[in-house]
Amino acid sequence: MKSNISLIGFMGVGKTAVGQALAEKLGKEFVELDALIAQKAGKSIPEIFQEDGEIRFRELEIEVVKEVADRKNLVIACGGGVVLNTINIDRLKKESVIVLLTASLGVILKRTLHEGGRPLLEGQTKAADIKALMVFRKPFYERAADITIDTSKLNINAVVEEIVAELKEWS
Ligand code: S3P
Repeated sequence: MKSNISLIGFMGVGKTAVGQALAEKLGKEFVELDALIAQKAGKSIPEIFQEDGEIRFRELEIEVVKEVADRKNLVIACGGGVVLNTINIDRLKKESVIVLLTASLGVILKRTLHEGGRPLLEGQTKAADIKALMVFRKPFYERAADITIDTSKLNINAVVEEIVAELKEWS
């Protein structure tokens, strides 16, 4: 049986908040890939993007996925772009059930508006750009997912409850 749960989905769907609550509920360890990447690089995610570029960020993302994917009993909050390199999903799938969190564009805009730290949403990024990115990534997310939960109308606890219920059916 797979002992990890990996949360994937677009920026602002609540992977971190849900992941922390889910880990607590299931008695698993919570890890966030972005935090591990920042730790490895010795700088923040925006600094990595700015100073080293997105390609370097993706290389670091591949490295940390490789390091955590085989560990046991984890809830892993992945960055929104983890699905872009299929090697990441192949590695995660070995020990993880992959849970996709989704939300409508409106909800994502509202949730990310007042939060910083996301280079892909900063500066001149417009709602239409975000929508285009969501549309582009949708097939990547759907191909990777074992379980999908629309979080648009749910609070964190309700999302956690849905995941726990789906996991029972899935395993
Ligand atoms: C990214 C999402 C971010 C972070 C980086 C790139 C993306 O994580 O990994 O800024 O490509 O969608 P969150 O999804 O946790 O915001």
